[in-house]
Amino acid sequence: MRVCSIVGARPQFIKAAVVSRELESAGEEVLVHTGQHYDEELSDVFFEELDIPEPEHNLGVRSGPHGEQTGKMIAAIEPVVEEVDPDALLLYGDTNSTLAGAIVGSKRDVTVAHVEAGLRSENRDMPEEINRILTDHAADCCFAPSKRAVENLAEEGIDDGVHWTGDVMYDAILDARERATNRSTILEDLGLEPGEYVLATVHRESNTDVRSNLEAILDGFADSPLPVVFPAHPRTVDRLERHGLWERATAVCDLIEPQGYLDFVRLLDAAERVATDSGGVQKEAFFLETPCVTLRNETEWTETVDSGLNVLVGPNADRIRRALRTDRNPVTNAQPYGDGLAGQRIVGLLERQLESGEPETEIDPEPSPLS
Ligand code: UD1
Ligand code: UDP
Repeated sequence: MRVCSIVGARPQFIKAAVVSRELESAGEEVLVHTGQHYDEELSDVFFEELDIPEPEHNLGVRSGPHGEQTGKMIAAIEPVVEEVDPDALLLYGDTNSTLAGAIVGSKRDVTVAHVEAGLRSENRDMPEEINRILTDHAADCCFAPSKRAVENLAEEGIDDGVHWTGDVMYDAILDARERATNRSTILEDLGLEPGEYVLATVHRESNTDVRSNLEAILDGFADSPLPVVFPAHPRTVDRLERHGLWERATAVCDLIEPQGYLDFVRLLDAAERVATDSGGVQKEAFFLETPCVTLRNETEWTETVDSGLNVLVGPNADRIRRALRTDRNPVTNAQPYGDGLAGQRIVGLLERQLESGEPETEIDPEPSPLS
């Protein structure tokens, strides 16, 4: 089978690396990078570390308002898909690159497959929520990371071509944790002791563009009992400067560059806790059993909250302060995100669907937890 994969943003490189490895023996993959993320530390570093082949096409779309950025991607993806003429278009997650791929693919004779389908935060003010919903409805094949994601799709009438595969980020971290522990020197480089710092990441539109939210998050961090190490996304650096909050941020946190995947996984694994508004980081914290304080009022990764390891506090200084001081222990050791074989399942199911030409629906047997 010939698969065209569309990626564009940091978390998508990590997810695609898992599936790309499996595709090597199952067919041909043409990798397309929209260019949504272009800074070395948000893009190239992941291709190098995760051994992802150079994308055949880099569309160089870069940053811009939602409509302009998505529109440029649609215009640039369409001729590539026409030229490549793939059997399947593989999309990841919930970014503008995902939506652009969904719009192009759904209007062509190609099977559109969505990895990380069925997630819902129930907050339609988030651009990602709109991207997720539209992509799931445009897809022929929905690969859901959890049982709840399958149920969310069913509630919206999406039953055909739905598969519970487990989560590709779980596959990724099972491999990365050990490599990070053995290879990363980031703790020594930054002079950090395991369990003696809080890791922070912030990049959501609502937390960075709205000055009062960003300020409230910094106020919450200011009273942290442990130093806060904050690898700052370029969007956040830009907004801290524009909002006149840069000095405040450097006073309350150790602002560092965005990290490569292995160094970041090491930092997360060894942190006393993490404060984040990232989707992927909430989940990785759950996998690594690092308590998580989520700087949002809702999450699409609801199972992490059910586990007792994640707490939702929103951009609220008092709630952040309290959450940074309250002990959290898991109330369950259930593993709702599969068995670490999601990548393999996704490729197998895609092959099957392409061969049969019919969308099947199969909720795979409950994946057994890995210890
Ligand atoms: C995007 C995704 C978000 C995902 C995140 C992962 C959308 C709507 N958002 O958010 O879902 O969680 O990626 O990190 O698709 N910038 C740079 N250099 C870069 C890229 C971005 O400086 O290489 C700065 C620019 O100021 C840009 C801003 O970051 O305007 C936002 O970038 P953009 O890709 O639009 O959204 P993210 O916030 O990165
Ligand atoms: N990540 C990283 N370096 C960083 C911050 C995050 O490698 O400095 C990784 C992290 O391990 C996770 C992914 O990036 O796998 C999450 O991406 P991000 O928070 O940008 O996006 P989201 O998951 O919210 O879409």
